[in-house]
Amino acid sequence: MRRYAGAVLIVIAVSVAWVWALPTAPIHQPLAFSHAKHAKIDCTVCHSGAASAAHAGIPDAPFCVRCHATAPAGTGAAWDRGVAARSFNWVRLERLPDHVMFSHRRHVTLGRLACESCHGEMKTRTTPPTAAPRRLEMTTCLDCHRQQGITEDCNACHR
Ligand code: HEC
Ligand code: HEC
Ligand code: HEC
Ligand code: HEC
Ligand code: HEC
Repeated sequence: MRRYAGAVLIVIAVSVAWVWALPTAPIHQPLAFSHAKHAKIDCTVCHSGAASAAHAGIPDAPFCVRCHATAPAGTGAAWDRGVAARSFNWVRLERLPDHVMFSHRRHVTLGRLACESCHGEMKTRTTPPTAAPRRLEMTTCLDCHRQQGITEDCNACHR
């Protein structure tokens, strides 16, 4: 453990700051997006970074209008405002502290893991989640890594 002592102290300090900054109230997205209505579309059509990059990304207005030339039912003024501003201003809910390194590409493309193994069932959601769909903690990572014989070295995940 000794050689990790410095890293552990930094990680603890950053985590305390992080927990302080966590939102406490439920988050309400600016638009009533339904994953269920888009269940026939592959996850990586919209979250393309999940296959090719570290971050999955959340598709925004210029992407949505490729299929929706006019405002979809039930979106009201928020649609027109978002299209004009080129952004709906989605709030990102699933987010690790800055001291952790995580790559979607590594897990999805190389590790061949399904989105569901970390995010649970998204396909059936009719309204946006108001908190991280499944909070990913260090034990979530370590349990799977242990089962699959992947690294448990602190420095693999922590900078
Ligand atoms: C690849 C094409 C495609 C893309 C991209 C797409 N949609 Fe859709 N969307 C659809 C289809 C098809 C439906 C109709 C589903 C149904 O009627 O069951 C739909 C339905 C909807 C509805 C519900 C409308 C209703 O009738 O209740 C909303 C709201 C919506 N989309 C918003 C969005 C937003 C926001 C984005 C961008 C983040 C987006 N869509 C991106 C194809 C797309
Ligand atoms: C091994 C676990 C794991 C798998 C598999 C996984 N994710 Fe994630 N996902 C995460 C973690 C961890 C975060 C937070 C990442 C961060 O803060 O850098 C995240 C964040 C996200 C976000 C928030 C936006 C962003 O860019 O961070 C979206 C959207 C997302 N994932 C979609 C997907 C989709 C779609 C798939 C399947 C193609 C997928 N994820 C597969 C763990 C996973
Ligand atoms: C038509 C585009 C579209 C498709 C297809 C789609 N998503 Fe999403 N996804 C979005 C949008 C827009 C949001 C932000 C609004 C919300 O949370 O409902 C989002 C949010 C998410 C989030 C929460 C990210 C965060 O940190 O806030 C996860 C996780 C996610 N999607 C996973 C998936 C998975 C897994 C699939 C496939 C089963 C999928 N998505 C299919 C557009 C899409
Ligand atoms: C459901 C299983 C699963 C979960 C959960 C998971 N991982 Fe992994 N992880 C893998 C697999 C499988 C690989 C190897 C992928 C490959 O083939 O390169 C991997 C590889 C990695 C690597 C590269 C390891 C190396 O040897 O360089 C890092 C870093 C990593 N994961 C971090 C994380 C973090 C951080 C989390 C939690 C937020 C996490 N993982 C959650 C299965 C998982
Ligand atoms: C497979 C990836 C992974 C490995 C390996 C890993 N961690 Fe973590 N660690 C994480 C993630 C993800 C978080 C953030 C958890 C959260 O936000 O709740 C974290 C958080 C922490 C925290 C902050 C407190 C907490 O629990 O949230 C400390 C301290 C920490 N790790 C120390 C270590 C040490 C020491 C090792 C080596 C013995 C280690 N970690 C190995 C992924 C990993």
